[in-house]
Amino acid sequence: PLLDRLFNAGETEVALAKKLGIERTLIVPGNADLQDRVFEEMGEELSSALNLLLPLGHSIVTLLGGTSLAKSARYLSPGLGNNRQLEFVPGRGALGENVETQSNTIVQEMAAKTSGTYKTLYLPEQVSDDAYKSLIRESSIADVLQDISQSDAVIHGIGLAQEMARRRGYNSIKLSELREKKAVTECFGCFFDENGKVVDRIAQVGLQFENLYKIPHIFAFACGARKAKAIKAYMPNAPHQTWLITDEGASNMILKGK
Ligand code: BG6
Repeated sequence: PLLDRLFNAGETEVALAKKLGIERTLIVPGNADLQDRVFEEMGEELSSALNLLLPLGHSIVTLLGGTSLAKSARYLSPGLGNNRQLEFVPGRGALGENVETQSNTIVQEMAAKTSGTYKTLYLPEQVSDDAYKSLIRESSIADVLQDISQSDAVIHGIGLAQEMARRRGYNSIKLSELREKKAVTECFGCFFDENGKVVDRIAQVGLQFENLYKIPHIFAFACGARKAKAIKAYMPNAPHQTWLITDEGASNMILKGK
């Protein structure tokens, strides 16, 4: 029945995918802003989608962090690891985020659930250009970067610009600059305005937004009515193979908008 459900998109899912210009959306019931159990269903839906799309054998799954994914990671099904050797890697350095919501933590959790393996990338999220150039030559870092570039799937959250900037330690001057530039959303270290234009970005070691189109399977993971505007602003940039996993709270708001 789960496979049926994935093959046969509902009418609303089709409408939302069309509106956002991506391959597929999966909408779970409820609104994550009000109901924490939505994260459970989000996790289960992600698990089924991975099960449908990932080939058997070895796959590299690159993760970005965030609270949404952190709350859902434990709901991956152990069955996902049947006949698969899954390797989970963080998409980029993430020190600065809380430990619980760091990709370094989530890779371990997902690997444990699916009897897979993981690698970590203990690096600051923001580094100077000079540091960046020397860091990517370190062999342990180069090894993870190599795996990221060969990802079979990427799973990422979509953040609200101001909230993410604060989480990343922007001071009040940088925060108001960002407001002036009308940043609505943040994804992969890029801040986008409501038309999907990049208005600011953070230099980061790891997956670059520009290389995303090369990855076979991309899962955008964001829910709750408050995320609707962030999802909408990011999506003009999303590669077409993106699957959005979301809830009714966000999707109703997006579909109601112009
Ligand atoms: C992360 C992404 O996966 O999720 C960030 O790397 C994004 O770019 C963040 O902003 C969103 O996190 P949250 O806590 O809103 O789920």
